[in-house]
Amino acid sequence: MKTIVITGGAGFIGSHVVRLFVNKYPDYRIINLDKLTYAGNLNNLKDIEDKPNYKFVKMDVCDFEAFYQLMHDEKVDGIIHLAAESHVDRSIKDPFTFAKTNVMGTLSLLQAAKLYWESLPERYEGKRFYHISTDEVYGALEFNDELFAETTPYSPHSPYSASKASSDHFVRAYHDTYGMPTIVTNCSNNYGPYQFPEKLIPLFINNIRHRKPLPVYGKGENIRDWLYVEDHARAIDVIFHEGKVAETYNIGGFNEWKNIDLIKVMIKTVDRILGNAEGTSLDLITYVTDRPGHDARYAIDSSKLKRELGWEPSLQFEEGIEKTVRWYLENQAWLDNVTSGDYQRYYDEMYTGR
Ligand code: NAD
Ligand code: TYD
Repeated sequence: MKTIVITGGAGFIGSHVVRLFVNKYPDYRIINLDKLTYAGNLNNLKDIEDKPNYKFVKMDVCDFEAFYQLMHDEKVDGIIHLAAESHVDRSIKDPFTFAKTNVMGTLSLLQAAKLYWESLPERYEGKRFYHISTDEVYGALEFNDELFAETTPYSPHSPYSASKASSDHFVRAYHDTYGMPTIVTNCSNNYGPYQFPEKLIPLFINNIRHRKPLPVYGKGENIRDWLYVEDHARAIDVIFHEGKVAETYNIGGFNEWKNIDLIKVMIKTVDRILGNAEGTSLDLITYVTDRPGHDARYAIDSSKLKRELGWEPSLQFEEGIEKTVRWYLENQAWLDNVTSGDYQRYYDEMYTGR
């Protein structure tokens, strides 16, 4: 029996990883550790919250002592670390919170895991610390550049990517210095159900539905490489179990889109599903001031992961975006709930009595 802590399990990607592990591994004990910031929402996990192999713990990853105690009490074997502040625009306004959670929080988990695992007779045998990171640590590509490879030097630009790069370095340092069995993966932009509607895809689907303006940064020519979130969760499962210690794996779907082209696909899909004439919502496109330091292009080469562990994306983009648009249109109550802050108040009262 394995006990695994998944941090950030109430967030977008984390909730898909928790669901996959709880359903696929009934013999594991899955502990979802999350502070429930504005981005954490236990409603994302309603379908599995009563499973006997699932437990939720409300905790800040920066709370070293509480986490050490949890490692000890629960005899934790593995950590899959997703908890983070994740939105670039917020990091531009409030970089301190990003340094605190993403850098100090990761360091705090590493140090607690080190002290606990080194206290055991078997030490690091059968243990694993897996850090989920982003392709944004590699910086920005020009339009004709080669894709990001695992060997591409780090060159982060935003406070978000700088904080993730720093945490990746700490994770590798714990392997190189103390022999901790660590793995880092760097993934491209994810999309799919349960993403907080501050990110491009859910924000724009919601705005199209409500005929609100679609704020396109700059000329809309920046390129992102999109992966369906359940494919990322499947990759995390494969890498957690079969990935080589101290390795880095890039995860992506070879699926680059210029923002404006992707926005037009979303408009077309929402209009079709809502029964509007084609092109109805094109007038919502509103070009606004560019994001400071806006990275031109991200594009990831995940061929190592396919070659070494046999993973590849299961969904074509057309299918993924259709599923995603339908999910947000059918789950307006979820969107209203996360934007109103009701869920936040409810869980604050439930877990802290405030
Ligand atoms: P998210 O913002 O949706 O969720 C983050 C979760 O972490 C939330 O549940 C939040 O409550 C929790 N959290 C935040 N601060 C915490 C703290 N101090 N202590 C405990 N919990 C805390 O993020 P996401 O988009 O699901 O991203 C998850 C991870 O994947 C992040 O590490 C991110 O850097 C990485 N990543 C994201 C993408 C993407 O496209 N979203 C791509 C590559 C990598
Ligand atoms: P986002 O979803 O914030 O992810 P990231 O910045 O981590 O790639 O943004 C995706 C792209 O969409 C990025 O190039 C910025 C752009 N964008 C807009 O043009 N308008 C918006 O309102 C948002 C949120 C993003």
